[in-house]
Amino acid sequence: MKIAMVLHVLVFLLVVGFIKSQAALIPKSYDYEVKEANFTRLCKNKTILTVNGEFPGPTIYARRGDTLIVNVKNRGNLGITIHWHGVKQPRYPWSDGPEFITQCPIQPGANFSQKIILSDEEGTLWWHAHSDWSRATVHGLIVIWPKIGRPYPFPKPYVEYPIVLAEWWRQDVEAVLLDFLKTGGDPNTSDALTINGQPGDLYPCSSSETTKFIVEHGKTYMLRMVNAAMNLFLFWGIGGHEVTVVGTDGAYVKPLKSNYVVISPGQTIDLLFKADQPIGQYYIAAKPYNSQPAISFDNTTTTAIIEYKGYKKLSLSPVFPHLPKVNDTNASVNFTGSLRSLASRAHPIDVPMKITRNFLFTISINTMPCPNNACLGPRGLRFAASVNNITFASPNISILDAYYGRIKGVYGDDFPNFPPLFFNFTANNLNTSLQTPLNASELKVLEYGDTVELVFQGTNLVAGIDHPMHLHGHSFYVVGWGFGNFNRSRDPLSYNLVDPPLQQTIAVPKNGWTAIRFKADNPGVWLMHCHLERHISWGMEMAFITKNGSKAGESILPPPPDMPPCT
Ligand code: C2O
Ligand code: CU
Repeated sequence: MKIAMVLHVLVFLLVVGFIKSQAALIPKSYDYEVKEANFTRLCKNKTILTVNGEFPGPTIYARRGDTLIVNVKNRGNLGITIHWHGVKQPRYPWSDGPEFITQCPIQPGANFSQKIILSDEEGTLWWHAHSDWSRATVHGLIVIWPKIGRPYPFPKPYVEYPIVLAEWWRQDVEAVLLDFLKTGGDPNTSDALTINGQPGDLYPCSSSETTKFIVEHGKTYMLRMVNAAMNLFLFWGIGGHEVTVVGTDGAYVKPLKSNYVVISPGQTIDLLFKADQPIGQYYIAAKPYNSQPAISFDNTTTTAIIEYKGYKKLSLSPVFPHLPKVNDTNASVNFTGSLRSLASRAHPIDVPMKITRNFLFTISINTMPCPNNACLGPRGLRFAASVNNITFASPNISILDAYYGRIKGVYGDDFPNFPPLFFNFTANNLNTSLQTPLNASELKVLEYGDTVELVFQGTNLVAGIDHPMHLHGHSFYVVGWGFGNFNRSRDPLSYNLVDPPLQQTIAVPKNGWTAIRFKADNPGVWLMHCHLERHISWGMEMAFITKNGSKAGESILPPPPDMPPCT
């Protein structure tokens, strides 16, 4: 009887990928073997790229301020890089990971020992591949607990569970990438969404493996959630239960009660829920939020089950959450716009008030010419995407190397402060002559200590859509947002400078704008991009160089000896 119970618990731990308790001894180093592994989903067996054969990959555990080592060994067939999403890596861009920005890929058979240098991050972050489309299956959580003896700014939850949301293709993901780059059209949509690697009850051949979380009545649970999906914003909720959001992107927020959550690709959300409903089963569900009707997308729903201890099997199906409609932009902006920093004595904020650099960056979908107009984008053209009308042209050596080693001709430092042309960015039926971007590798150079205000302006070129903009090496305060065109004399009057949320990924609303502020106090080369993977593939990215400061402790540290070589 006892042994059976122990076995049961063990199986259960494996099934849900239980998060260790805070009291656990946590390792300071990890071995990550990148390799192909076999998985069966949706009635079909395929090989996927994994870390250590796991999908989702292994969780990293840390406490605030820790430094960890991850020994990445590439035993796959393609070059790869790994990025620690949301980790600022102070003065140490060498470990950041984006391919051809801070390093060249780790070649098959090679190793790279990467440092994860935490500073003020606390909550949940994640790691993922940052080369090609391998992040579809190469990703996992980073759990950051408070320092020993420091409390959460909320009552300690009974148990913590991971919620890793992702997309699954029947096809090989690398083939999806090569295919749409060749045709110039949209990528094939995924075939399923997953929660902790499982699509759940609503998909073929998935029911018996549906992720299940066991809860005890009366206890409060914490969910550490990431949207690791490639191309989808997601609505998420629990049937019959309200949740309380307590953190996002590795920073606490004021408790926000809600019946649903919207989460951008790249974003993390920490939330609490109390098991206060009648003993039973309740669905956790996630489905897309999509504001652009012209694109095709995977409009399916992934589920997991919350089961109360003591539940006796009935024929009733679990209670389903009420999620907003797939195109409900108001539900999306209302949720995202309600996040507020804790801004307490224990968790103060530090919003830049005197701004030294002002930028307005348009973010657009574009088109490029295609031989014989034979591409699958609009009017036979090829899809592209841009920031300030520049489609980022990736070099094939590392920009950080070029910057640090003063190698000329790899990148330019002329990224514009403003779009080259002011027009009614969010109007309908914009002239198609505005659609063609420039192609260049331009960076924006910042002085150490610059205080930056950056307004992202969505445009309606080709097709307006929300863009989840992500900045490496920094967190930023989201001080304002709105629909339509940003108005420099009017809109700053309504900024929130009191308790704006501190984030690393922010959804800029469709045909709207978002203003962020950050301090350039991290010397290095830092990528900024849309976290919709197809938009990165189309070039919606640029990078900042933050120069060294003049004082001690304000310069880039030297590179590690085992940086992957670029030839
Ligand atoms: Cu999740 Cu460039 O990052
Ligand atoms: Cu985008």
